Amino acid sequence: MTTIVMTGASTGIGRGAAQDLMTGPDVRLIAGGRSKPPVGAEFLRLDLTSLASVHEFAVAVREALGDTSIDVLVLNAGTQFGDAKHRTKDGFETTFAANHLAHYLLLRLLMPCLSIGAIVIVTTSNLHDPNTNPVAPPEHADARLLAEGKVEANDPPSLRAGVRAYASSKLCNILTAESLASSDFARERRLRVIAFNPGFTPGTKLTRNQSPLFRLPFSIVTRVMSAFRRLNTIASGGHLLADLALGRITPPQGRLYASQVRRELQWPDPSAMARDEAVQTKLWRDSAELVGLPEGP
Ligand SMILES: NC(=O)c1ccc[n+]([C@@H]2O[C@H](COP(=O)([O-])OP(=O)(O)OC[C@H]3O[C@@H](n4cnc5c(N)ncnc54)[C@H](OP(=O)(O)O)[C@@H]3O)[C@@H](O)[C@H]2O)c1
Repeated sequence: MTTIVMTGASTGIGRGAAQDLMTGPDVRLIAGGRSKPPVGAEFLRLDLTSLASVHEFAVAVREALGDTSIDVLVLNAGTQFGDAKHRTKDGFETTFAANHLAHYLLLRLLMPCLSIGAIVIVTTSNLHDPNTNPVAPPEHADARLLAEGKVEANDPPSLRAGVRAYASSKLCNILTAESLASSDFARERRLRVIAFNPGFTPGTKLTRNQSPLFRLPFSIVTRVMSAFRRLNTIASGGHLLADLALGRITPPQGRLYASQVRRELQWPDPSAMARDEAVQTKLWRDSAELVGLPEGP
């Protein structure tokens, strides 16, 4: 039996992956979310905009596991807004809190439950990289500033602050994956850590919190692009994510960043900031402080 714990399995790429995962033999999928995953998965409530909910979910997962362990942990859920003004009940900027901080806390709480040789996948985005996102790349990965919604030096923030908040949170996702991968804990447990970029994938619900003023031109541009380019699809991203999760695809030696480009998997270097060990270490430490945990492994 392969036990998989996953976030973001209710819609989009994650739902595609969950459906694919459950076609495999002897798979137990425990999905955390606000709305239900595909039939066949076990559903436990999780709202990533609340650290208390993350704690409750982790307790429920441990109860569900009993004396078994997690073979695959997929931190896939994600959200974005038109600005960086939204705040969670905990007082953090919502994009950063849901995409990074809640997943960081969940990872830390579930790390002791990971089996030897477990696979950990964090869904990131190529928007984390100035080379593939020249419009609104992250300016920094300072957790305390991001938690306050200070995603850019501009004051007042620019019209691109929402995209930058999202890109910054996705940078935090890949920095977290890098930190975990290089930890003694990962070496001792022989973890395989992957930061997965599904690439631009139309048709998901990711832009649901954006204003109609964003969504309308976005859908027109997407339609025009799809006439000329082989765009990624929910199915292609879902298959890839499932293949990575079940170990049907093995990362090349020393590679961690799995990036889908035109429905093909590539293993490029992530951005320079994502590879910066000092930035990785600081984000891990500051995130621990923000969620009230010791620095830990
Ligand atoms: N689509 C793209 O172009 C693209 C490109 C690069 C990376 N990505 C990444 O791919 C991942 C999946 O995105 P998608 O495009 O498939 O979008 P999506 O259809 O909106 O799926 C997002 C998932 O995240 C969950 N989620 C959002 N906020 C949550 C919260 N507060 N608590 C619990 N779950 C929450 C949603 O569940 P609910 O039903 O509860 O809302 C849903 O299952 C995300 O990490 C995204 O950043 C997407």
